[in-house]
Amino acid sequence: MSFFDAPIKRLVGRFVPKPLPPAGTFDGQTVLIVGGTTGLGLAAAVHFATLGASVIITSRVESRGDTAKRRIEEAVGPSRKGDISCLELDLESYDSCSKFVTKLKSSLSGPSVLDVAILNGGMVNSHWEESEAGWERTVQVNTIGTTLVGLLLLEWMRGARSDRKTPAHLVFVSSRDHLDNDIDPLFTGSKQEKSILRQVCSKDYWQGGFWDTQPNYNISKLLLMYTIEGMSELARGPDGDPLVIINSVCPGMVKTDIGRHIATSSDLMNL
Ligand SMILES: NC(=O)c1ccc[n+]([C@@H]2O[C@H](COP(=O)([O-])OP(=O)(O)OC[C@H]3O[C@@H](n4cnc5c(N)ncnc54)[C@H](OP(=O)(O)O)[C@@H]3O)[C@@H](O)[C@H]2O)c1
Repeated sequence: MSFFDAPIKRLVGRFVPKPLPPAGTFDGQTVLIVGGTTGLGLAAAVHFATLGASVIITSRVESRGDTAKRRIEEAVGPSRKGDISCLELDLESYDSCSKFVTKLKSSLSGPSVLDVAILNGGMVNSHWEESEAGWERTVQVNTIGTTLVGLLLLEWMRGARSDRKTPAHLVFVSSRDHLDNDIDPLFTGSKQEKSILRQVCSKDYWQGGFWDTQPNYNISKLLLMYTIEGMSELARGPDGDPLVIINSVCPGMVKTDIGRHIATSSDLMNL
């Protein structure tokens, strides 16, 4: 593969989109999309519902979830075969993550009914903020909360493998930006006695400035890639075959609401 293959593919893909799978591909299946109220999650929800799936989205705020649900129903129209529902989830709160998974389990009728789970919720912050649990907020949401929900779902989905013909899918929305990290300083220098997670969550580590509008986003996605690797091992059965198929995907650069914190509070954007 040459250096130019990926950008050329991306450019061609923009003007000649890949054809959709045939209608009915997801008939009878249930797809969970974490963070389905806006942007890519909302688009994915419409996509899966159009292909026949019942779709469960999540939102932190009930009214936003209701609006998104209506938008999905309107976009798919009368041909819709599956249900659309919304559950409350705040990836920033451990309590919310665990309550969400309990509620999801009880809202579905059997262990094998979750076919695809897409962990898409994520944020960019322009200012250092501490989460309730004491970590930097971007890392709390994009890495820690997402990994916690991923692990809880994985345990449940693994247990359901024997009830299914094929493994269920657990998909993490990451970002190619995880490659843009200089991790050497994390292993050297005076701060090396701290854990890596503590270092990246500390105020000292925060690189934000006039030009850097998404500090900690890249590292949060890199740490997520590490936890996805760990979860992929946990997804294997005794014979080494995956009981749940785990993927990470990067959507490329797409105009969504992801920059809402930057748009309102970055010095650069407020010029
Ligand atoms: N757009 C891009 O160019 C791009 C590129 C690479 C990767 N990505 C990744 O794609 C994913 C979707 O991003 P997007 O661009 O579609 O952004 P978006 O429009 O801002 O959507 C983000 C979604 O995440 C949810 N969310 C945010 N904070 C949350 C929290 N604490 N708990 C639970 N849900 C939360 C939001 O839901 P509510 O606020 O309604 O609760 C929203 O539905 C993210 O993981 C992002 O990192 C995006």
